This record gives sequence, C-alpha cells and structure tokens, in this order.
Amino acid sequence: MNNQIAGPSTPPGAGIPDAAEPALRVRDLRVGTDNLDLITDVSFTLAPGERVGLIGESGSGKSLTALALLGLLPEEVKASGSIRLSEVGFDVVGASERQMSKVRGDRMAMVFQEPMTALNPVMQVGDQVAEIMLLHRRQPDRRAARRAAVEMLAKVRLPDPEGAARAYPHQLSGGQRQRVVLAIALANDPAVLLCDEPTTALDVTVQAHMLDLILTGVAERDSALLFITHDLAVVATVCERVLVMYGGRIVESGPIDEVFTRPRHPYTRGLLDASDMDAVDGRGRLHTIPGTVPAAGRFPDGCVFRNRCAHATQQCVQVPPLEHKGARAHACWHPVEEPT
Ligand SMILES: Nc1ncnc2c1ncn2[C@@H]1O[C@H](COP(=O)(O)OP(=O)(O)OP(=O)(O)O)[C@@H](O)[C@H]1O
Ligand code: SF4
Ligand SMILES: [Mg+2]
Repeated sequence: MNNQIAGPSTPPGAGIPDAAEPALRVRDLRVGTDNLDLITDVSFTLAPGERVGLIGESGSGKSLTALALLGLLPEEVKASGSIRLSEVGFDVVGASERQMSKVRGDRMAMVFQEPMTALNPVMQVGDQVAEIMLLHRRQPDRRAARRAAVEMLAKVRLPDPEGAARAYPHQLSGGQRQRVVLAIALANDPAVLLCDEPTTALDVTVQAHMLDLILTGVAERDSALLFITHDLAVVATVCERVLVMYGGRIVESGPIDEVFTRPRHPYTRGLLDASDMDAVDGRGRLHTIPGTVPAAGRFPDGCVFRNRCAHATQQCVQVPPLEHKGARAHACWHPVEEPT
C-alpha cells in the first residue's frame, strides 16, 4: 500500500491551472510496476463543489488513478508525485496505512462499480453506515450513530429506511445496495467523492435516479466530485469539466461544453465520434477509433496515441507537452483546428 518511487523530472506544462484553494491537488502523479509505466505525469486539481469527469477507453488508467488517490494501489504498483487534500497535513503519496485510514471514508470517499465489493455481506447495512461515522468519531456513540445512519439511508431515498437499516446486503436490490454505498461514502461529508462507473452495473431505469442522488449529495456538502465513466452522455449530464485520459496520460482537459463541442485532441474527437451512434462516415459505416488500446507497456514512444492517429507525423515520435490555453489544455503536436 502507498508505495513510493522516485519519479523523473516533470515535463513542462504537465499541470492544469490551479483553483484558489483546491479540495484535491494532484501533481506529476506517476504509477507503475518495476517494469511498466501505467500512469505518467498526471496533474489536476478539484475545487470544492466542482464536478469533474475522467473519461477514456478501457485500459486508459482511470481506475488506477482513483486507487492511487485513495492509497489503495496493489502491493506491486508504486506511485510517485504528490496528492494533497485540503485540511490533510500529509501527502497521500508516501503516507502510511495508519494515516490513510484516517482519510479514507472521511475526507475522501469512493463509490465503486460493484456495490457488493464495498459492503460487508454479514453485517446489517445500518450498522455499516454507523460504523464509518464511529470510526472517524463523527458520532458520540453507537446509538447516535445508528440514528444518523437511518437518516443517511433516508437521504439516499431508500424506502422504509428503518427497515433497510436492519437488512443485509443480499436482501436489497442492486440499485438499493449502491444507494447504501453512497450513504456510507457521504456519511462523513467528504471533501472529495470519487465515483468509478457507479451506475454501470445498474438497470437503466435506476441509473438516472442514482446520478441524481450523487449530484444532490455532493451539492449539499460542497464536495468535489471525480466521476469516472465510459459514458460520454452521463459525463455531460453530471460534470462541468472533463479530463480525457489515454495511455495513462491526460491528453485533453477543459470545460465540458467546450471540449465536447470543439475537441482539440484527435483522441477526444475519436471518442466523441464513436459515441455518436447516428454518426456515419461517407460510406455509411459507424465511426470507431481505429485499432485497439494497447496493453500496458505496449504504447508507442512519443505520443501514446501515435499508432492509432490519422494525423500522426514524424514530430509525434516526441512526447507532446500538455499545452494550456485559458481553461483548456491539450497534448498534441497537431491539434484539431478550431472552426474559423
Ligand atoms: N497491478 C497491475 N499490474 C500491471 N498492470 C496493471 C495493474 N493494474 C492495472 N494494470 C494495467 O493498467 C492499465 C490501466 O488500468 P485501469 O484499470 O486503470 O484502466 P481503466 O481506464 O480503469 O479501464 P476500464 O475502463 O476498463 O475500467 C491497464 O492496461 C491494466 O491492465
Ligand atoms: S501528437 Fe501526433 S499522433 Fe499524437 S494525437 Fe497529436 S497528431 Fe496524433
Ligand atoms: Mg476502470
């Protein structure tokens, strides 16, 4: 846990503009094993109350980024760089397990894709919500914590919250279980909420309800939200800003309405074309991004998107720096032209 490696020097322009007092500040995050670089030079900030999407194809490094933030990387995977949370006096990178156990579920909380992995199958869900509040001393005693737990279950709109508090996870539906996970995540008013595909395992009918609960939960607490998803329509609904990740790097970022209408990076353009099911090329075929995401360690040198990019030139054998223009940033030698 929380292994640390010495990182190489930072390329110019790896960050994005700072918020005044960020809830979370990630600087030059690198994650890898002894042989593989998995995340490279990732920098971003989350302002209090800000909702930021992290998107990219499978294998881009989204979940590893979230696990690094929580200090939950597997033993063989090491991190370097800096991850600072507001009101926390140490860096997550290099923190001890004892330090991290004070932060997880308190200043920073996570909703994973599969609720059963987050819940204890042999404990009543009311006790599980109460437990996290007691652990972080947010309630004076078990009785008060149990009462507060029922209130939390009501806030995530579980019908019959008293009865739900006495239920075991297997007695609830998938959607109800995910609401319990959200109740646990929000119980201590986290400064940062991380959601990794929180609605992917749910029926379409309950997805919108869950998104609404997440949005209400972070708005009530002024929590920053990092929302990981493959679903561009969902991210456009939930988030104000987006980070586009590919090959373990952030290749584009900016306000969602600008990035989704005028993407600068060919990868973002490809993602958007591929997500628009009505979009067909001149020969009536649906757009897809050519090729597949390489396995970790198999990305090309230079621009990681080089082997799939229609615009690649000889210059692209060099790593493109993340270039900032106002609130936006992109890492491409030949960005998509702005329409004149
Ligand atoms: N412990 C590990 N050792 C080596 N490689 C790993 C390890 N964990 C993850 N990886 C690799 O790191 C890359 C990024 O994985 P990650 O799970 O972050 O992707 P993701 O963007 O979350 O994908 P998905 O959308 O499918 O969830 C993948 O190529 C994955 O195989
Ligand atoms: S740097 Fe080159 S290869 Fe990479 S996305 Fe831009 S044009 Fe394509
Ligand atoms: Mg993932």
